[in-house]
Amino acid sequence: MIYLDSAATSLQKPEGVQYAVISAMNNLASPGRGSHGAAMRASDECFACREAIAKLFNVSQPENVVFTFNATHSLNIAIRSLVSRGDTVLVSGYEHNSVTRPLNAIGAEIIAVKTPLFDTKAFLEEFEKRLPECRAVVCTHVSNVFGYILPVEELARLCRRAGKPFVIDASQSAGVLDIDFQGLGADFIAMPGHKGLLGPQGTGVLLCKNEAKPLLYGGSGSSSRVQTMPEFLPDRLEAGTHNVTGIAGLHAGVNYILRRGTASIRAHERELLELTARRLLDTKVLRLFYCPDERCQSGVLSMLPDEMYCETLGERLAERGIAVRCGLHCAPLAHETAGTLDSGTLRMSFSPFNSAAECAEAADAVIKILKNT
Ligand code: ALA
Repeated sequence: MIYLDSAATSLQKPEGVQYAVISAMNNLASPGRGSHGAAMRASDECFACREAIAKLFNVSQPENVVFTFNATHSLNIAIRSLVSRGDTVLVSGYEHNSVTRPLNAIGAEIIAVKTPLFDTKAFLEEFEKRLPECRAVVCTHVSNVFGYILPVEELARLCRRAGKPFVIDASQSAGVLDIDFQGLGADFIAMPGHKGLLGPQGTGVLLCKNEAKPLLYGGSGSSSRVQTMPEFLPDRLEAGTHNVTGIAGLHAGVNYILRRGTASIRAHERELLELTARRLLDTKVLRLFYCPDERCQSGVLSMLPDEMYCETLGERLAERGIAVRCGLHCAPLAHETAGTLDSGTLRMSFSPFNSAAECAEAADAVIKILKNT
């Protein structure tokens, strides 16, 4: 199979990830739940994983790295910590349902900055204009549909200056782009463990300052007499038994990224995107959502066939063993902003483990199917 759906989840993992999961299953119990060897080893492993994540994202204290079950879980904690019913929240026009649905559920007023794809100047101008109206800002770092890189460093600076809390959804950027938690000064950065961080599904991470409210209540292995969640992190936000096998796998994935470096991963994915785009440009059978400026697009490439439903093209590719994702990608707002809400798009997303030959084969298959040759 040629797997080009890493924006949904990473399928190819570094070798150490599987080993770490199996080894954890055999050796690790529950962290903070006993003084026997298996529990202590689990505590050590979880702490070591927090330390590796803190290093990757420049978080000063490993305790401010909170384990969750996915990015949606992380975003729900962040949003519920900052937003109440009736608050106005500024978001980009490229958000995923994991941002817009929690905001809607709370009853927040959403202002979406709907500027054209890859036009960072227009985005910043509109963002700055609307910033005074809001109570908080939530913004994706990279659009899961179009790979559009939003200018989060600049947004963070504007939010700091205006005193607005800032949440970054790093679902598509963690493990690929440089993210400096302390440098950005964001209140929360949410991310999955199973995409760019190359860990197993069922893992997520929330980087947070100290003002975070629990979403779940229950045992934390600490302060057990007290009937509220502990005041200190990470225990305040981590109720119930951890996904220890997942965390061990995530640790191996993060170690791979620390060794290889995000610059190398980003360059590799960008090279694959350009190779694929070059083959598809000027074929006159589809519209390509490609930006030649590498500062504006990471390794996610959407396309829209002129004369075929994108779902049909996706099925034809699947028959040839090529895995992509079609439709709205759980991000109707992004499609609305880009003008593709009615059709959706076909999305190819690249990973550190895809090769140039795979991408060339996938692009050629698209052309063959669309030209019926
Ligand atoms: N949000 C994920 C995607 O883009 C699941 O496919």
